[in-house]
Amino acid sequence: MSQHIEVMIPREEIDRRIHEIAAEISREYAGRTIHMICVLKGGVYFMTMLSNLIAEEVPVTLDFMSVSSYGDATSSSGIVRIVKDLDESLEGKDVILVEDIIDSGRTLHHLLKILHARNPKSLKLCTLLDKPDRRVCDVKVDWTGFEIEDRFVIGCGMDYKQKYRNLPYIGEIVED
Ligand code: IMP
Ligand code: MG
Repeated sequence: MSQHIEVMIPREEIDRRIHEIAAEISREYAGRTIHMICVLKGGVYFMTMLSNLIAEEVPVTLDFMSVSSYGDATSSSGIVRIVKDLDESLEGKDVILVEDIIDSGRTLHHLLKILHARNPKSLKLCTLLDKPDRRVCDVKVDWTGFEIEDRFVIGCGMDYKQKYRNLPYIGEIVED
């Protein structure tokens, strides 16, 4: 059985949208420092692209965390285990959590609770993609790149069995 990858959102459209979000964030955080947290591994491409476009007057610091949610290849269970914790404290910081995609919302619901307990000055959430129809746990999203239908996507950090994260567009695997 063969398959191919179809482009769902082309690179130019992704770049254009990330420019818009970066401009909004730069305006909102003028005079402050943003502490960006990337959820590995999926968020890494989006965080790199986004942080690159934040105005130079708004310093950005970065930290990384890795969680595992005991899911199978295409869905999460909601039981979140911290695999790699942040290096730095969040106390008093203006934190933006950067995610690749919100699906059921289980992972983030749990993660946001953990991060709130660390007393950041503020904590906001920015995701490249959102599948609102799949939501099981309530999550307040502050910036969304694109809302998509309930489809499994790859590229721009998102994987299928760890592959395809490097694709410069958002695509879908289609069986021929
Ligand atoms: P949630 O806990 O169901 O919201 O799952 C969120 C995580 O599942 C994301 O951070 C992704 O790592 C993964 N995920 C959800 N949907 C997709 C998809 O369409 N493609 C690739 N990964 C996905
Ligand atoms: Mg993720």
